[in-house]
Amino acid sequence: MADGTADPRTIHLKDYTPFPWTIDGVDLTFALAPRGTRVTSRLRFRPNPEARPGPFFLHGEDLRLIEARIDGQPVSPRIALEGLTCDVPDGPFTWESVVEIDPEANTRLEGLYLSNGMYCTQCEAEGFRRITFYPDRPDVMAVFTTRIESDLPVLLSNGNPGERSEGVAIWHDPWPKPAYLFALVAGDLLAHRDRFTTMTGREVDLAVWVRPGDEGKCAWAMESLKASMRWDEETYGREYDLDVFNIVAVDDFNMGAMENKGLNIFNSSAVLASPETATDANYERIEAIVAHEYFHNWTGNRITCRDWFQLSLKEGLTVFRDAQFTGDLRGRGVKRIHDAAALRAGQFREDGGPLAHPVRPESFVEINNFYTMTVYEKGAEVIGMLKRLVGDEGYRRALDLYFARHDGQAATVEDWLQVFEDATGRDLSQFKLWYSQAGTPRLRVEERWEEGRYTLDLSQTVPPTPGQPTKAPMVIPVAVGLLNPNGDEVVPTTVLELTGERQSFAFDLPTRPIPSILRDFSAPVLLDRDAPEEEAAFLLAHDTDEFNRWEAAQTLARRAIRARLDGRNIDPAWAPALRAVLRDDTLSPAYRATILARPSQEETAQALHGAGLTPDPLAIFRAHEEVAEHLAHALADLLPGLHDQGQVPGPYSPDPDSVGRRSLGNAALMLLSRTDVGARARAQFAGAADMTQSVAALSALLLVDAGEAELQAFHDRWSGDRLVMDKWFALQASLARPEEAVATAERLTRHPAFVWTNPNRFRSVLGAFAGNLAGFHDPSGAGYRLLADWLLRLDGANPQFAARMSGAFSTWRRYDADRQALAEAELRRIQSAPGLSRDLSEMVARMLG
Ligand code: PHE
Ligand code: ZN
Repeated sequence: MADGTADPRTIHLKDYTPFPWTIDGVDLTFALAPRGTRVTSRLRFRPNPEARPGPFFLHGEDLRLIEARIDGQPVSPRIALEGLTCDVPDGPFTWESVVEIDPEANTRLEGLYLSNGMYCTQCEAEGFRRITFYPDRPDVMAVFTTRIESDLPVLLSNGNPGERSEGVAIWHDPWPKPAYLFALVAGDLLAHRDRFTTMTGREVDLAVWVRPGDEGKCAWAMESLKASMRWDEETYGREYDLDVFNIVAVDDFNMGAMENKGLNIFNSSAVLASPETATDANYERIEAIVAHEYFHNWTGNRITCRDWFQLSLKEGLTVFRDAQFTGDLRGRGVKRIHDAAALRAGQFREDGGPLAHPVRPESFVEINNFYTMTVYEKGAEVIGMLKRLVGDEGYRRALDLYFARHDGQAATVEDWLQVFEDATGRDLSQFKLWYSQAGTPRLRVEERWEEGRYTLDLSQTVPPTPGQPTKAPMVIPVAVGLLNPNGDEVVPTTVLELTGERQSFAFDLPTRPIPSILRDFSAPVLLDRDAPEEEAAFLLAHDTDEFNRWEAAQTLARRAIRARLDGRNIDPAWAPALRAVLRDDTLSPAYRATILARPSQEETAQALHGAGLTPDPLAIFRAHEEVAEHLAHALADLLPGLHDQGQVPGPYSPDPDSVGRRSLGNAALMLLSRTDVGARARAQFAGAADMTQSVAALSALLLVDAGEAELQAFHDRWSGDRLVMDKWFALQASLARPEEAVATAERLTRHPAFVWTNPNRFRSVLGAFAGNLAGFHDPSGAGYRLLADWLLRLDGANPQFAARMSGAFSTWRRYDADRQALAEAELRRIQSAPGLSRDLSEMVARMLG
């Protein structure tokens, strides 16, 4: 089953049919108890005039049905594995059921569960069916009223608060929503409060809820929330629509956060921050995730998805919106660089291997396996291309039309593209291939110069992917600028639209220009071009496009890595070319930090594989080390000054400027520790007043295999702080040297604080280890075995998360025959384990397929 489609449980997009009923209202009552919570539901059904009649089926899993009634009369439904069926009247009727569930036994973190004594829910994608019997599909939208009975002090649900009395709270959400947006929280929590006045003058009460002890770590999430609310009004004209907006932090959470209507639930790692415990990167992540979840209120909640195949309709768009937000707040160029680098490392890897799937998949076995970088990040890239093709004005008109036309609906990718066609008159039938064809297109560029005429010959190929052997040409917006040899821009950024397999674009120019191609990373493609040797250095010195200037630095770094892999010397002109940019004070420190960054080892492995070679993880590790050593020596005089600039005076602040300075300073420190045997890093660690400086110093030490004492000191100081301890675990697992990595990861799994049922902690050891290229791909196969052992254990408790973590194996076919045999044996061992979950078995089948 190459793409999992042979599995009898496969669900297909083409099989969509609407639910035969609509729901006029949902009343839920929760009598909370750890081992036996009673959920009473009252659903008012009426035949759906837009659907063909069909059997009455309600989803339900792991529920104990206590009683069921229709219009007040007891009924005996037939319980099936994934739900129930029942004979029902022809017209409207009221369904009532009482079920019992066991939150304490819920280790899947899906449905209603307990995390450190706090009740919380996670319903996306199909978790509501673990709470009560219900048509658990996103196209069934209803108005919910929720009554919570519990002695716990804080009782929250979606919408606006209603009556509150001793042991009872009632919430009413006036906006129709699918069940996946339902949420409930109950616990002993404290609020960090604020208010927001909307564009029409309505007052909204805001709160960030946390466990006692964490109340001092909420201010940043709150600031981020207010900034997001304002930005969505100013940029998209979107106003918030309830009297309250609540955010809750929970320690046990599979993902980053969840956009439940009016009650966002967050992984505590995406909320809690204080200067002493969180890094700049943590602050930026919190800001971005708070924005992302808030933006879902319109793109996801007010307009939701008809079915889960349309997931990118909300996720791609919301990622695109949060990227715009971050770009506006923190600088567009640097944000674009970070996103493109992440896309290449993660999404290109997915798109080039056995897990490749379209932005809108056509089938799945387990929807949880499709919350991927392709659906999220490539989906956002597709929207970026659309915006580039129709222009800013066209984009805004299309979005206004989208909100006006589809508010309150469960929409599709077709609806989305239709608003662009209607608002701009553009035919998007070919563009739509971006939603259905998987694989990263390869864009080949050749240039010709004949007296006075410069021609770019563009051609494209889209590689075969599982289930898609042949592809049609896509619409690729290729932003280009042309420079003359003294560095002046003779043709400013122009978007060439490649729609055929090959096309030529000519420019009349008096002298032969130097091209800057795929500016701003205008399409998620691999650029294939035999550029003249000196072009990258020229663009690094002169390009006006921030992205392509960075790309030129990457090209030079790739060449240096490649030289060491082939046993050649590094071009002595490389470091001087970087030096000129690093010393240019007109460039922001944040930007200069990106110039100093090299491609990841994963990217090198990917590139070698793409070139038809077999990557050797150990050789890649060494080559990257040698390149870093080379830079450390060649820039030795410059680095101390850059590092000094990173010491930002005054109290900690995560503003873009301070963050940028620290990122440049710490990028310098990573190199400096290679020449001063950690002296500066040790001093920075000892004097660090905030976590950014502390973690950077510790990393710089671990990179050169020093820092034992600091590691211990860090442990002793922070053993009571979960999120900081996650860093302590992750740093060691990801930075351990190849020959020690497996033993290090194994040792960490035996540490008393390694609570493997907590996803953050599991990720901090095994996720970080799997990202340690040479460590995970240890030639003995011990890395594969370690991860497989833990996946099997995890699968029994939390299948969704086990499946997510298994993706580390997806590149196994890239490597040599010995490694392939070892990895394959582990995958087969997982596959044949008794009682394997649907989640993990689908992943393994696809990876072996
Ligand atoms: N919808 C969430 C987001 O993108 C992600 C999520 C999916 C969270 C599934 C939990 C479960 O913001
Ligand atoms: Zn999202």
